[in-house]
Amino acid sequence: MDARNDLRLPQIEHAGVHWCAMKWCAMKSSCLLFIVLLGLTAAAQSPLPVRVNGQRIHEHLSSLAKFGANPQGGVSRVAYSDADLKGREYAITLMKGAGLDVHIDAAGNIIGTRAGSGPQLKPLLIGSHIDSVPMGGNYDGDVGSLSAIEVAQVLQEKQITLRHPLEVIIFQNEEGGTIGSQALGEGLDEQRLNLVSQSGKTIREGTRAIGGIPEQLASVQRLPGSIAGYFELHIEQGGSLEREKIDIGVVEGIVGILHSDVTIEGFANHAGTTPMDQRHDALLSAARFIETVNQVVTSVPGRQVGTVGWVKVEPGAYNVIPGKVVLGLELRDLDEKKFTGLFSRIRTEAETLGKLNQTRFSFTDPVITRPALTDKTFQQLIGDTAKSLGFSIKVMPSGAGHDAQEIARIGPVGMIFIPSIGGISHAPKEFSRPQDIENGANVLLHTVLAFDRK
Ligand code: GLV
Ligand code: MN
Ligand code: MN
Repeated sequence: MDARNDLRLPQIEHAGVHWCAMKWCAMKSSCLLFIVLLGLTAAAQSPLPVRVNGQRIHEHLSSLAKFGANPQGGVSRVAYSDADLKGREYAITLMKGAGLDVHIDAAGNIIGTRAGSGPQLKPLLIGSHIDSVPMGGNYDGDVGSLSAIEVAQVLQEKQITLRHPLEVIIFQNEEGGTIGSQALGEGLDEQRLNLVSQSGKTIREGTRAIGGIPEQLASVQRLPGSIAGYFELHIEQGGSLEREKIDIGVVEGIVGILHSDVTIEGFANHAGTTPMDQRHDALLSAARFIETVNQVVTSVPGRQVGTVGWVKVEPGAYNVIPGKVVLGLELRDLDEKKFTGLFSRIRTEAETLGKLNQTRFSFTDPVITRPALTDKTFQQLIGDTAKSLGFSIKVMPSGAGHDAQEIARIGPVGMIFIPSIGGISHAPKEFSRPQDIENGANVLLHTVLAFDRK
């Protein structure tokens, strides 16, 4: 009995399977129809599954890296150099390929526009810069610029029309003092236009060399409230995201920067015959000044930083006591009052130092890039977008300067950071992982889409 039951049980199951199979076959077409309908409904209800093409961004970064490539693996693509001109041509080709309508404005910025469906809406701006510091890396500015172009490329491929007109902007000469973005914001004054850039050209000459028209700069400036906003993706340039294993930084504020050229005049004389107590050694004074800068900047609590980044010595020979030194002083903080206060203290200390060393200090009028806060609702939007894509986030300040701080004068701005490996930047070893770049570009894309939907 037990045995029969044992035999029967499988027969019953077997028959059950047949029954199910037959039933399934009978229902097959309606099932398929149901699945297709379910899929279509889900597709209509859920956000479009759009993503950037990470491999394409990587290829574009590699191609851009060839313009101004240096033997150390980075780039020297200072603004207005031949390498800069070639890099800009390459960016223009990519922008046209992404369906953007491209022009160079009177300030020399490259602007690619894409029409929106709501003609009354103000433009939404995205972008960054592709010029570099001397002996720089391949990620500062380039990641944000090429990712902004990638956003336009994806919109074109997916045939997505935003409600807002979109402007992809490659700002000129960010490294020489956020020149192109300042032309849109506060405007460029004579002092800026006459500054000599790393290329050896003045800003005015350089702007002309890249296709700008310095006499028509007023036409570039935009009124406060004339843009819907600006989003910029950038590498962190510090090490905190990598150290804390965080995918995306949401920037809360960008430091202000003060630059001043300091001249120290002594007396050039014979290095062999002039006794040690009778010298007016400008370089010795400069060395003591550099130490003083460090002491003054570290004498108060906070995140302020101060640097002497370059020194020129005259006449520059083994056997001549240096008669003149010119050096570059930089101060940074999120609070403008703090760094202007430190600058005053440094000047006072320099006067005392000069008297003690029988040399004379003079400072050029400080050139100030003002600090800026990012927009709170933009911070929220970037953070929520990043989290919805599965990324961890951290709200953080930026110790580096960015075009976003100039654009903050005319409208709300937001910045997205991705990790910089080892916190290295402004150096050939600057590196960000392809996956992090793709993540950041996807956050940029979806922040733009979410902003446009609101
Ligand atoms: C720009 O990268 C700066 O912080 O100087
Ligand atoms: Mn930059
Ligand atoms: Mn930089």
